Amino acid sequence: MDQYSILFPVFTAAAAVAISVVVFLWRQWGEPWRRRRVPPGSMGWPYIGETLKLYSEDPNRFFSIRRKRYGNIFKSHILGCPCVMISSPEAAKIVLANKAHLFKPTYPPSKERMIGPEALFFHQGNYHSLLKKTVVASFSPSAIRGSVAALQNIALRLLSKWERINTVCTFQEMKKYAFEVAMISAFGDEEEPETRQGIRCLYENLEKGYNSMPLNIPGTPFHRAIKARKALNCRLKKIIEKRRSACRGGGLLGNLLNLQNQLTDSQIADNVIGVIFAAHDTTATVLTWLLKYLHDNPSVLQAVAGEQEGIRRKLQVEGNRGLTWDDTRDMLLTTRVIQETLRSASILSFTFREAVEDVEFQGYVIPKGWKVLPLFRTIHHSSDLFPQPHIFDPSRFEVPPRPNTFMPFGNGVHSCPGSDLAKLEMLVLLHHLTTTYRWRVVGEEDTIQYGPFPVPKGGLPIQVTPWKNTLPVVASDHQYQNS
Ligand code: HEM
Repeated sequence: MDQYSILFPVFTAAAAVAISVVVFLWRQWGEPWRRRRVPPGSMGWPYIGETLKLYSEDPNRFFSIRRKRYGNIFKSHILGCPCVMISSPEAAKIVLANKAHLFKPTYPPSKERMIGPEALFFHQGNYHSLLKKTVVASFSPSAIRGSVAALQNIALRLLSKWERINTVCTFQEMKKYAFEVAMISAFGDEEEPETRQGIRCLYENLEKGYNSMPLNIPGTPFHRAIKARKALNCRLKKIIEKRRSACRGGGLLGNLLNLQNQLTDSQIADNVIGVIFAAHDTTATVLTWLLKYLHDNPSVLQAVAGEQEGIRRKLQVEGNRGLTWDDTRDMLLTTRVIQETLRSASILSFTFREAVEDVEFQGYVIPKGWKVLPLFRTIHHSSDLFPQPHIFDPSRFEVPPRPNTFMPFGNGVHSCPGSDLAKLEMLVLLHHLTTTYRWRVVGEEDTIQYGPFPVPKGGLPIQVTPWKNTLPVVASDHQYQNS
């Protein structure tokens, strides 16, 4: 054999690889999309696109630079996918509500596997509608108004321990609170403490793996999470069997079981676990930001404490009764503080959808398969919609925001069914917290960490001291406005 016959196959293979790479790159970044008027923007480097930029710099900066350069709709390439980012309320509404059938929800397969592929987040059409109706009904104001006493017990149990802890990690404590609330919402108050504890342990392993690299190799958090997910399914199946035979059941699980033969056990299990997932870190993160903003804005804290002290005294006068749903409706100022926290922290910076076909969109084409990201945070921080967006000013919510501009709970078909429960949890906890304690942030750093939601560094370590009220009880919004 001469040297040419040895090298020929090598050259052929190298040429084939080179041609495939060129074709791949041309398809991804080349002419076809340019001719079809996709939105303006940069696709960054081949394959990695702009992923490193998005995850290495402040996401606000990433979005606002591109928005200034290209306008409200621009293309990019992140996490291996071409995508279109949209930052106008009107365009976000089209994607999430008006033309939702053209934009399906999309999640990385590893996340889908963790939560459970039959959970409602991942679906559209009849199956999604059936589940959504039941979940919405389970968390509607009329369904949750009776749970104030239970929430109150959870809050009081948690807060009573804080005095004995030298440094409280706010985020970890809020996670305990949100988890307990999610558990009673999912199961009612029927399950034994041991069953709850067992679910909690498995859930903790699941969560660690959810936020880790998806490497299914023994010893990795992801592997442990997959095992925990299987064990959770078994436990839920046992609970379902028990409830079916006893013909009883409260919480979301009870309502899903009432759908009789319309759902399989694994569909029920995926949705119960999915809802606990959706309810847990989100609420805990927002609560952590609430404490941070109240700490940094003493006049707002004083106004909230005044409102809550007024309610506390009313309860005392009325025979030391517990808080009720109607009392929480009187917490107008505290509600505005929660709204401003949801806007300012915007913990879900954006969500993901995927175009199910080529879609004509505001003069552009969004090609089939491209991801579409409505940028909630950018909309909430637009100075045209929320003047001086960097200032924490709850009084801006004295006037309702323009429709479709305030979307902390999303919009349209997949909007959050747990928004009323989340707000109720926050009101109950703030009532007891602001009438009992004051807190000092340890370390005073303004750094943010992502895990995956943005939280103050270290989960906001605080030191708490008991608080004796010396405030006037009636607070007005204007008390803090110019301070
Ligand atoms: C402050 C806390 C919360 C925030 C900021 C929040 C935010 C959101 C957002 C933005 C979405 C829409 C995602 C999208 O369109 O892709 C969503 C969906 C969802 N949330 Fe929440 N959420 C919170 C608390 C809760 C709670 C307490 C529950 C359960 C009781 C819950 C259950 C769900 C479910 C099941 C969905 C999926 C709905 C669907 O796909 O149709 N969330 N949430």
